[in-house]
Amino acid sequence: MPDFRQDADAQAILESDAERLLPVYARYPVVMDHGNGVYLYDTTGNRYLDLMAGLGVNALGHAHPRMVAAMAEQAAKLIHLSPQYASRYPGELAERLCDLSGMKGVFYSTGGSEAVEGALKLARTHARQNYTHPKHEIVALKKSYHGRTYGSLSVTGQDKYRLDFGPGLPHVKFVERNDLEQLRSAVSGATAAILVEPLLGEGGVHNLDPAFIAEARKLADAYGALLIFDEIQSGLGRTGDWFAFTRSGVQPDALILGKPLGGGIPLSALLVNEMLFDAFGVAKHGSTLGGSPMACRLGLEFLNIVEDDDLLSQVKDTGAYLLGHLHQLAKESPLGIEARGRGLLLGLEIAEPGRPIAEAALEHGVMLNVVQGNVLRFLPSFLLQRKHVDVAVDLMHGLLKTRRGEVHEGLEAAVPVTA
Ligand SMILES: Cc1ncc(COP(=O)(O)O)c(C=O)c1O
Repeated sequence: MPDFRQDADAQAILESDAERLLPVYARYPVVMDHGNGVYLYDTTGNRYLDLMAGLGVNALGHAHPRMVAAMAEQAAKLIHLSPQYASRYPGELAERLCDLSGMKGVFYSTGGSEAVEGALKLARTHARQNYTHPKHEIVALKKSYHGRTYGSLSVTGQDKYRLDFGPGLPHVKFVERNDLEQLRSAVSGATAAILVEPLLGEGGVHNLDPAFIAEARKLADAYGALLIFDEIQSGLGRTGDWFAFTRSGVQPDALILGKPLGGGIPLSALLVNEMLFDAFGVAKHGSTLGGSPMACRLGLEFLNIVEDDDLLSQVKDTGAYLLGHLHQLAKESPLGIEARGRGLLLGLEIAEPGRPIAEAALEHGVMLNVVQGNVLRFLPSFLLQRKHVDVAVDLMHGLLKTRRGEVHEGLEAAVPVTA
């Protein structure tokens, strides 16, 4: 078991951070130094099995040699370029993304929220260009998570994130996931877009029923609304398929990607179908830092590595193995409620706040992530293997064995941490 306490230097970093960085994140008391594969190392040299992978960004783990080499080579050539000029990689990456997803074109931005903003603008401008009646509404899901900027926050179906900052974007309706009746009554001629995560992540890891997705497609077609999939968290291989929507057989009008896309360099993408290719037109939308040569080069290398090393199969295999263990934990542990998810986007709902469990796991060298207060969410790198799962599961069996109300007395109650 690594020594959780670090030296005075680490302590000084934590203290000075607390003085200067806005206390927006419920941070864990550890100062990381470097990473290698599925492990992170703190400044004292303690090793941690990373099961959250930078909230899903570090899909190839840390310091992947091919990513490091691509980054070094590209840094010496061209890091950033005005998007008004062409370079080699943005187009190559767009072609690959379109081939994989069946979409026609790509607009790049930086973070996920920014790409969601683009999708909302696209829905509004498409409605304005094609319909004369008011068509502003966005239908989204309760418990969804789409980001922190005003538009993306306004379509996030969780009051706890939204209400302090209101009023947000008007004309947003929220429906329960998988409730066909609610969906049918929410969508009308006034709907500009239906926006869903095919596999909800931050909301607690919940699958959308294929029938619900199919109904969304049918309603979007019937009323001339766009169907938009936010796969910022579930996309790009995380479910063991390139996209979570693939299995539904339903094609969206727009698809939003982010997180691992730039290999850790901010990069998000809004992919659109043929109909929407020219919807923005020239100079109506943009992003100074979006789609830099560096980020796109890393995006291509990321896709190449996933393909070359058959990581989708590994995600499927390790994911199924971990999910099997989580089902067992849900059944056997006095704290277990339910295990769910797909590939390496998995959740274990427990009957107590998850934060003390995550803190205890960290002391034992395993980094867990908590959403919704009581869901342990697993978003590890695609490099995770069964042997790593065994280590984590053994530890969780111990931590979750504790009777209700007795988990690490003295630690603070759960603080919901997000995204
Ligand atoms: C599904 C989904 N959409 C949007 C976002 C927002 O992305 P970002 O934090 O990069 O702005 C996230 C982040 O977790 C997400 O999971």
